[in-house]
Formats: sequence, structure tokens, C-alpha cells
Amino acid sequence: MIYLDNASTTNKKPLSVKVAVKKALNKKYCANPGRSSHDISINAGNIIYETRELLNDFFGGYGASNVALTSGCTEALNLAILGTVKKGGNVVYTTNEHNSVARPLEQLKRAKKITTTLVKTNAIGETEPKDIENAITDKTYLVIINHTSNVTGATSNISKIGEICKKKGVMLLVDGAQSAGHQKINMKNDCISMLAIAGHKGMLACQGVGALLFANNIEIKPQKFGGTGTNSEQLLPPIVYPDSLEAGTSPTPAIFSLLAGTKYVKKHFEKINTKIENLTKYLLDEMYKKKNLKIYTTKNSKNGVVSFRVLGIEPSDVVNYFNQNKICVRSGLHCAPLCHNKLGTINGGTIRVSISHFNHKWEIKKFLKLLDKLLLGLIK
Ligand SMILES: Cc1ncc(COP(=O)(O)O)c(C=O)c1O
Repeated sequence: MIYLDNASTTNKKPLSVKVAVKKALNKKYCANPGRSSHDISINAGNIIYETRELLNDFFGGYGASNVALTSGCTEALNLAILGTVKKGGNVVYTTNEHNSVARPLEQLKRAKKITTTLVKTNAIGETEPKDIENAITDKTYLVIINHTSNVTGATSNISKIGEICKKKGVMLLVDGAQSAGHQKINMKNDCISMLAIAGHKGMLACQGVGALLFANNIEIKPQKFGGTGTNSEQLLPPIVYPDSLEAGTSPTPAIFSLLAGTKYVKKHFEKINTKIENLTKYLLDEMYKKKNLKIYTTKNSKNGVVSFRVLGIEPSDVVNYFNQNKICVRSGLHCAPLCHNKLGTINGGTIRVSISHFNHKWEIKKFLKLLDKLLLGLIK
């Protein structure tokens, strides 16, 4: 199979990531970290601490204690949104947001805890900083920005938006699900209050891990309750970060893999992203020459996410055609209905091709050849 669905989950992982998963299950590490004082628990705990430190360093964060490990980006975004809610306040978000932002906001809105302001992205799918500035009112306490759209690949200028949020005294939460590993992100330089990332996408880890990194002045209330291995005599969770935000046994195989994935991405960052840029350019240049396609990704996009429709054929039928020809691409709304409302593709969504640096040019060529064959059938 040729795998071109990397925005969902990267399929091919570095060898070091697979080795790390195995290491977590090795008897020297397979214990409950942060719970017992024996060597094996400490060994596992040390790797988790190293993971926090590396993530903090990679994303220019505020310290290893300000890195809460979660089950993925959804949990990180939920924790940020639900854990910082200010009753009677306002949240500004955009039409690029994923359901892991839109749905918790909708819950809070229906419970009459907050109001929300939806900002439309511009013609090429980016969030205009001035539109965010105009949307902020004296009730706004939080702005949420999708950094790179999982539908169109459009990347917004979070640094400019960060400056605005800092000036206005509101928190900025960045959804880095698609940008982590691909865009340079520095929480301090970009004035990001909270950054949510997924492990299993551009960070090349396995499924089951993500992180919420947060600035020193942010107060986040826990959203799950249980054992933390600390302050166990108390019925309320500890007020120590990140323990208070991580109740339950940590998924060490996933976390070990995130450490290995982050090391790999850090070392090969330029190489990874130049390769993705080149493959994206080749794909888009070729696709823009074709008739009977509606492409929703701008021609100069570099991010490896390309959305389109074949005129006259349902996106799901196109995806089935590719699957029968051993190519994995994805159709539908990609869990981002607000974006499809804006694009006018809410019925059926789009077909999304998403590239990893492990893909080869011959794989893109094969995809284009099959696309030609499909389009030829339309002309006959
Ligand atoms: C933009 C965006 N945000 C959030 C998520 C949710 O991430 P996860 O699958 O790690 O929960 C995704 C996943 O596709 C995404 O693309």
C-alpha cells in the first residue's frame, strides 16, 4: 500500500521509535512510574521526565513541570479549554478549528458558561491577525488558533496573533496537531500561553500520547481525577503541575516513543520538512494542471496537506477507487466541519492527500497516474 494519510496518523515511524516502544515493555522499565520507589518505577519515571524536558526545549516552553502528557491532542485541547474556563467570559476561535476545539466550546456555550466569537479565515484559509484583534472584547479571556489546517494545510501567523493576545492580556491556545514537527514553534517568542500537540502525527510517535505545554502564569484545573502517586492522603488532587493534570497510570510505551520521535524530529527537522515541501510542490504543480478538479489548497502550500474534489464524483467514491488501487487517502470532513462550511464542502467533504517525509516521489507519481485514469473516465 502507498500511504498518503499522514495528517491522520503518520504510518511509517523511525526505527528508534519502534525500539523505544519495545524498551518500555522491557522488564527494566515496565513498571508504574511515579508510584513506587523501586528502581524499575524510577527508570520509567526518568524517561518520562526526559520526555518533558525535551518537549519543553523543542517548543521553547516554560519548564518540564509545565508539560502535561495527555492521550493525544484532543485531550490536550479539552484540558486547556475546560481547565481554564472563566464563567461569563468570551472565547475567540476560528473556522479552521477541529472538533476537539469546537465541541468543548459548544458544551460550555450550551451550559451558558461562556460566549464564543467565530472568526472566518481569509480567502486562502489563514487566520488574519487583524481579524483576531477586532474580535477580542473586554470579556475575551482566550483565543484559540489552529496553526496548520488539517483540511487545507493553510498555516496562520501565530507569532503575530501571539503579540496581539499579549498586548490585549488574553491567553492564546495554539492547536499544533498538524504543525508540531513541521513548523518552528517557540512558546516564549511566539507569546503562546498554551500549546497542544499530538504525538502520533508529525512527532512520529505511536498513538496514545500528546501534550499540553503551558506558560507559568496559566492556572489549569484538572479534568480527570484519580491516583497521581502524590498527596494520596488528600481527597482533592495535588496542586502541583504536571501531577494534578495527569491522574492515572501513564502510557509508558507511547511516552517512550514520543521521546524517540522528538529526538528524531529535532535532529532531522530541516531534512524532513524540505522533503515534504518538495513533494507537496510536485503534487500541487501537477494537480493544478488538471481539469475537473477543485483544489482547496493554495498552489504554493508547503505543508504536505492537499484537499480536493473530483467534479461529479463523491469524495468517498474517489477514496474507494484509490484504496482498490492500493493507495490510502482520506475523504470526509476531517473532523473540521466549520472549515467545510466555509469552503462549501460540508456535503461529502474533500479528499485529502497528506504526505510524510518517508514518502517517495514515485508514490506521488503513482497517485497522479491513477488520478489521471479516473479523470479520463469522466471525459469519455
Ligand atoms: C488540527 C487537529 N487538531 C486536533 C486533532 C486531534 O488530535 P488527536 O487525534 O491526537 O486527538 C487533530 C487530529 O486529526 C487535528 O488534525
